[in-house]
Amino acid sequence: MSDLDKINSIFNAKIDSVKTKEDLKNLKTEFFGKNGQITQQFKTLGALEPEKRKDFASNLNKIKYDLSNQIEQKSFEIENAEISDKLKNEKVDVTLPIRPYQLGKIHPVSQVIDEISAIFSEVGFTVVEGPDVETEYNNFTALNTPEDHPARDMHDTFYLEKNKKLLLRTHTSPVQIRAMLDEKPPFKIIVPGRTYRCDSDQTHAPMFHQLEGLHIDKNITMGHLKGCLDYFIKEFFEVKNIKMRFRPSHFPFTEPSAEVDIGYRIENEKIVIGEGNKWLEILGCGMVHPNVLKNVKVDSKKYQGFAFGMGIDRLAMLKYGINDLRAFFESDYRWLSHFGFDPLDVPTNYRGLSK
Ligand code: DAH
Repeated sequence: MSDLDKINSIFNAKIDSVKTKEDLKNLKTEFFGKNGQITQQFKTLGALEPEKRKDFASNLNKIKYDLSNQIEQKSFEIENAEISDKLKNEKVDVTLPIRPYQLGKIHPVSQVIDEISAIFSEVGFTVVEGPDVETEYNNFTALNTPEDHPARDMHDTFYLEKNKKLLLRTHTSPVQIRAMLDEKPPFKIIVPGRTYRCDSDQTHAPMFHQLEGLHIDKNITMGHLKGCLDYFIKEFFEVKNIKMRFRPSHFPFTEPSAEVDIGYRIENEKIVIGEGNKWLEILGCGMVHPNVLKNVKVDSKKYQGFAFGMGIDRLAMLKYGINDLRAFFESDYRWLSHFGFDPLDVPTNYRGLSK
C-alpha cells in the first residue's frame, strides 16, 4: 500500500467517529495543519525525480481535494444536527391548557392607590412620585422639623449612613418639597408611595404606604381643605353620609394643623363607616407652614394652601375588611386570591370604584 493510500484509509476510519465541531477541528489539524499528514507529503515533492513527481503531485492533489470535501460535508452534517436538536428542545406545545390557578390578582394596596388616584384626578390633582431613599434635609429640615424633634429619633427612622444624611423616607411629605422646587406655583398634587419606620405589630409594618396631598394657590383656605377631604372620603368609602370631625393637632410643616376622624359603628362584628357614635382617626392635615414655603422659595404673601397625609394600608383595611396589616406584605397567594382584584377591572369614578 502506498503512503497516500495509507493516509486515505486512516482518514476514512477517523472521520466516521467525528461527532462534534471540536472533533472535526482536530481531524483537520491532523491532516492539513502545519505538521499535518497531507502537508508533510507536499514537503516531499521537491526531493522526487521529475517523472515521479508529476504522478505523485497529481495523486496528492486528488486526495487533498477528496479529504477536504469530506470535511466540508461533515461540518454541514454536524451543523444540521445541532439545529434540529435545538428545535426539538425548544418546542412549545401551544395546545396545552392554561393553568387557571395561576391567574394574577391586583393587590388591595395597588387597587386602593388606583381608586384614590381616580378620585383626586377627577377634581384636578396630578399624581407625582418621589424616591424611597431621601435626604435628611427633604424629609425633616425643609419641612420645618426642629433638630430635636422626636420623629428624627434613631428608633423611628431608618438612617442609611452614620452621618444621618440619607434615610428611608418616614413619610411622603418630602415629595411636597421636591414638587415645589421643581415647578412654579400653583401646585395641586397627590403623592402615593412607600414609607418606612422602625415599627412592627398588628397595625404597624416597617414598610407601609402613605398618600400625600398638596394644594397651593392664591386664596386657598381651610374651607377648601375641608371640602376636598369631605368629597374624597365619601367617594372612597362609596357612602352618601359620613360624619367627619377636625381635631386640633400639631405637625411641624402645617399651621394650623388638624387630625381628621370619621364616624363609624359596629354591626354584626363588622365596621360600618359613616354614621354612628364612634370615631376613627384617618389622616393629618393643615395649612402649609410659611417656613416650608420659604424653604422652597414660594412667596407666602402671595401663595398659601393646604396639605394632608394618610395611611393607604389603613384605608384599604377599613374599606375591604382586612384586619391584620402584616398579611399585606407576606405574599401569600391564597390571601391574594381572596382579597385581590381583577386586573381588567380598573377603578373609575363614573363606573363605580370597587364594584
Ligand atoms: N407626614 C405626616 C405623618 O407621616 C402626615 C401629614 C400630616 C402630612 C399633616 C401632611 C400634613 O401633609 O399636612 O404622620
